[in-house]
Amino acid sequence: MAEETTLLRTSSVSKRFRGVVALSDASIRLEQGEILGIIGPNGAGKTTLFNVIAGAMRPSSGSVIFRGRDITRMAADRRLRLGLARTFQLMKPFVSLTVYDNIVVGATGSGLSKRRARARADEIVDLLDMGRIASRSAGAINAVQAKRLELARALSAQPVVVLLDEIFSGLRPDEVDDLAAHVRALPSRGQTVMMIEHNLPAIRSVSERVLALSAGAVIREGSPADVFDDPEVVSSYLGKRSRPAH
Ligand SMILES: Nc1ncnc2c1ncn2[C@@H]1O[C@H](COP(=O)(O)OP(=O)(O)O)[C@@H](O)[C@H]1O
Ligand SMILES: [Mg+2]
Repeated sequence: MAEETTLLRTSSVSKRFRGVVALSDASIRLEQGEILGIIGPNGAGKTTLFNVIAGAMRPSSGSVIFRGRDITRMAADRRLRLGLARTFQLMKPFVSLTVYDNIVVGATGSGLSKRRARARADEIVDLLDMGRIASRSAGAINAVQAKRLELARALSAQPVVVLLDEIFSGLRPDEVDDLAAHVRALPSRGQTVMMIEHNLPAIRSVSERVLALSAGAVIREGSPADVFDDPEVVSSYLGKRSRPAH
């Protein structure tokens, strides 16, 4: 019956870049309404997994299934219109535009008219308490505000699934708490979340299920407590793991 609640899954996805194996036979599933945490050391393949799911890259082999439909070869903009949105680890707002107009652009990209995109942007500004910075230039906001803009931009597409790539990195604990409260509220708005994160307390506070990647492969899946304490996961972070990359 897994298929009924599984919103998104990858089936044996591999991605090779010349000599590097970024993903190796990775099968993951995202259940309707959950917040799934993805952890793993730098270079584990986390962002590549998001690239393959969101359509920025095609996998070398394997497939991506969204709502029962094979989207492996579908263009990224079509996936966005189907409800798959992401944030970028390396943020790239339009610095010549205001924060508000960046959100409008995001909403327009999901297929809305200018007028409806503005209404959506108003909603998102309200939702994420961004009123104070909405009229500022996106080139003049600090890193914390830029993280929030990334989230706002992704949510402006009113996605079914939102992929968050390290949105808590570099934030102070109080800033993490504030943003985490917004992430926790997403499922009640009908949004399902997959979240790459190094900040373990942040994951613990929002996720019930975590998946660990190492050298492109899924090495553990379970509750945050089980996964964080797993010896193989711990050693992958300490760089002791000598698993060959193919
Ligand atoms: N566009 C690319 N071209 C070549 N190698 C890449 C590219 N993207 C990622 N890689 C390599 O794939 C591996 C996984 O990278 P990435 O998915 O960014 O890891 P993570 O997000 O877990 O830190 C790394 O070895 C990285 O150097
Ligand atoms: Mg990454």
